[in-house]
Amino acid sequence: MKVLIIGGSGFIGRRLIPLLLARGDEAVSMDIAPPPALTEGAAFRRGDVRQFDEVIAAVAETRPDRLVNLAYHIGSDLPPQVAFKLNVLGMQNVFEAARLVGVPHTLYASSLAVSGLQSHFGERPVTEEDPRRGTLQYAMHKIFNEFQAQDYREKHGTVITGIRPANVTGPDKLFGSVDHVHCITAPARGQPVSFPYRDAMRCPVHVDDVAEVFARVTAAERPKHAVYATGGHTISLGELAAMVREFIPGAEIRFEHETGGREKSGNYLIDNRRLVEEFGVQYAPFRARVLQIINAVRAETGQKPLAAG
Ligand SMILES: NC(=O)c1ccc[n+]([C@@H]2O[C@H](COP(=O)([O-])OP(=O)(O)OC[C@H]3O[C@@H](n4cnc5c(N)ncnc54)[C@H](O)[C@@H]3O)[C@@H](O)[C@H]2O)c1
Repeated sequence: MKVLIIGGSGFIGRRLIPLLLARGDEAVSMDIAPPPALTEGAAFRRGDVRQFDEVIAAVAETRPDRLVNLAYHIGSDLPPQVAFKLNVLGMQNVFEAARLVGVPHTLYASSLAVSGLQSHFGERPVTEEDPRRGTLQYAMHKIFNEFQAQDYREKHGTVITGIRPANVTGPDKLFGSVDHVHCITAPARGQPVSFPYRDAMRCPVHVDDVAEVFARVTAAERPKHAVYATGGHTISLGELAAMVREFIPGAEIRFEHETGGREKSGNYLIDNRRLVEEFGVQYAPFRARVLQIINAVRAETGQKPLAAG
């Protein structure tokens, strides 16, 4: 199967491409950033998702069996025109190219951000059927992306599937929610780190697991649902700090306040039954992922790996 990944040089894309290659797929990446070493073996073409002529050229020339759009601005700080062009127009260009060329199945990344604050739902897991209560620029764009996909499905029968990753974590994460990442990577580097709230809640999921989710759903011809939440491991920053200290007892992780973060936290209880039941997804224990991240940082900084203990 041939897969065209737009945004393939990024945090998730560079993990997804090796998985596709390992199972014998042909992978082509289109990105404005150069291809990272991890994606060696995939074809690369420079292209801007905001330019329809570049997207349609890539899709028409590649004729992929699957098209995956990961190109996005993760954050809500960009001027409206700049963010819109990448997040909304870029997505539109991908869906329109998929329709025109007749790509059998297109995937895109939505986000847990569509749900907004957990407090809207009380202390219960949020499902893909729940109302989308996000309000920030990033969340609003993701909510609209889900509508764009629905519009294409309804009007043109285009097969488009959204994946809503939770708080993706990994040693090289740069954008989006990074407090849960720094809570692991700073101590692994021997650096102190501090956060406003010990009880701030997160739902981290390792980037390798998210790449695996994209790989599995990519293999499907016509998934049963339009949107799938990855879910993750519900944890407070205080609990994460304690987990890090199991491996690095002297970790200097400080909190300015014991409470006050939970009610301000985004969606942290997520029902991912759809994904588990249809795609048999099972995540490694989160403690093992924390150790994996610590050891990735240690390898990068010339330190010996720590044992699981
Ligand atoms: N990382 C997370 O925690 C997280 C959580 C939920 C959802 N997501 C979603 O998953 C997707 C991928 O996330 P990521 O963490 O890999 O992001 P990333 O920023 O690491 O990767 C995005 C890639 O898109 C490329 N890109 C940016 N502008 C482009 C353009 N105009 N044309 C072509 N390529 C362009 C970038 O060069 C980069 O390689 C995004 O849609 C993101 O919103 C990520």
